[in-house]
Amino acid sequence: MSENPKDTAVTTPAKSDGTKATAAGGATLTKDAADGDVLLKVTGLQKHFPIKKGLLQRQVGAVHAVDGIDFEVRRGETLGVVGESGCGKSTMGRLITRLLEPTGGRIEFEGRDITHLGVGGMRPLRRDVQMIFQDPYSSLNPRHTIGTIVGAPFRLQGVEPEGGIKKEVQRLLSVVGLNPEHYNRYPHEFSGGQRQRIGIARALALNPKLVVADEPVSALDVSIQAQVVNLLDDLQQELGLTYVIIAHDLSVVRHVSDRIAVMYLGKIVELADRDQLYKSPMHPYTKALLSAVPIPDPSRKSARSERILLKGDVPSPISPPSGCRFHTRCWKATEICRTTEPPLAELRPGQRVACHHPENFADQQPQDTVLLSAAKEAAELVSDEVLAQSAETSAAVAAELEGPAEPASGESVSKSAGSAESSSESGESVSKTARSASEATEPASKSTEPVSKSVSKPTEPVSKSVSKSTEPASESAEPASESAESASAEPASVDVSKTDRREAAGETGRQESAEESDGQESTDK
Ligand SMILES: Nc1ncnc2c1ncn2[C@@H]1O[C@H](COP(=O)(O)OP(=O)(O)O)[C@@H](O)[C@H]1O
Ligand code: SF4
Ligand SMILES: [Mg+2]
Repeated sequence: MSENPKDTAVTTPAKSDGTKATAAGGATLTKDAADGDVLLKVTGLQKHFPIKKGLLQRQVGAVHAVDGIDFEVRRGETLGVVGESGCGKSTMGRLITRLLEPTGGRIEFEGRDITHLGVGGMRPLRRDVQMIFQDPYSSLNPRHTIGTIVGAPFRLQGVEPEGGIKKEVQRLLSVVGLNPEHYNRYPHEFSGGQRQRIGIARALALNPKLVVADEPVSALDVSIQAQVVNLLDDLQQELGLTYVIIAHDLSVVRHVSDRIAVMYLGKIVELADRDQLYKSPMHPYTKALLSAVPIPDPSRKSARSERILLKGDVPSPISPPSGCRFHTRCWKATEICRTTEPPLAELRPGQRVACHHPENFADQQPQDTVLLSAAKEAAELVSDEVLAQSAETSAAVAAELEGPAEPASGESVSKSAGSAESSSESGESVSKTARSASEATEPASKSTEPVSKSVSKPTEPVSKSVSKSTEPASESAEPASESAESASAEPASVDVSKTDRREAAGETGRQESAEESDGQESTDK
């Protein structure tokens, strides 16, 4: 079976129910036309996970996973969302796909307020907004055939595609580069990249307008990552999809995003056009993230001296730092940073930044430059291993997207999951206390998060006192979908790396896809 998307031309826009003329037509949208056309608008969005304790389940605090974010997604564009583990990216993704109930704020889809829509109200929207999960190993039900999995959305939504479900599923399989004859096979018969293609086929079944992909390639081997990213890109061209692609580093999103939002501790700290962000980042955190991701550019030979490695731990999202949340790790922090939260302001056209002393700004104070040089001198260098890994992904994706079509490279020939796993192990922020036995079996999460490398021990005193408290009951006020999720949420997840590991292990993905279909099944039938 071919694993190279280029083998299978993606030519036929889905026409399952004939209701998505706009989405299919979106393929022809020009950038300019798309600019003003906002598909999704998010204002002041918040998600606080309550931490409850004791017999009476009294709320003793909250994990401020997403803490007031504003952004919009324009029709036809790809918005990349990046940030360290635990900064709230996945929570944001689940909020905008309404798999989670927001604590505050507003979500508008095509101008319609969907913030608190119930299961019934969400049903039509489920066609338009789809999610691709991080872990292709656990997001597919092992007991169902591929045909059943990819055909489920039709059954759940009561849609009868032209020519029948089987035919449509086979068409979808070939669209994502899989053999339609493998309709009756089970997920375990496929490799990671192929499974992710199955997940993509399922997401595309109802011809959605918006696809939210939560780290769609981070569990895959580097060479496969490039193919899957390329497939997503091709599908966008063909079907006029709009994407929100979540990633923990910049090596994947930089090639596919039109705009990039950088998140830190539940906030968006910078949101800008991709090129602008790369050329001249304004938030110190963006600058640090970028400095850690090498750009395969021979003209940047002296890049090593520009690398910034952030020191210290990512603070706890239970009690985020006052003022600017980044002040505990920022080399430019001054008194105002500790006391006053900087608003996300448009400092340049198309570039929004939340910082009192932004980088690359016309009226940057001379002392800022001095501070920055001092910080660079003091900063440790990011290890070559991490840089190499990141560069590999970056180069592979770039080659895949920009280079000529390559001959099919069978996935099975690529590196084994084991090698990916070991590299991810070495490249991960170490949080010893957070490891549990089950985590030992996590799939490779290509965690190249250099900025967190220096985090050696979680110093979160709060985490201990509340660590037992995010128990299943804690989210009982939430809709059914969420209680399923919180049941899997485990101890108060204060330790951000732990959640990410759990998620890398795919538990969340499995819960969610199960919940998604369960929820719908129960209402639909
Ligand atoms: N269901 C949940 N219950 C309690 N805390 C959660 C839950 N889901 C996520 N969190 C916490 O919210 C924060 C953000 O998590 P997440 O959105 O998964 O981050 P990311 O995807 O950026 O790694 C983390 O501190 C995590 O522990
Ligand atoms: S507001 Fe202050 S602490 Fe925050 S990023 Fe800007 S300079 Fe650093
Ligand atoms: Mg995540």
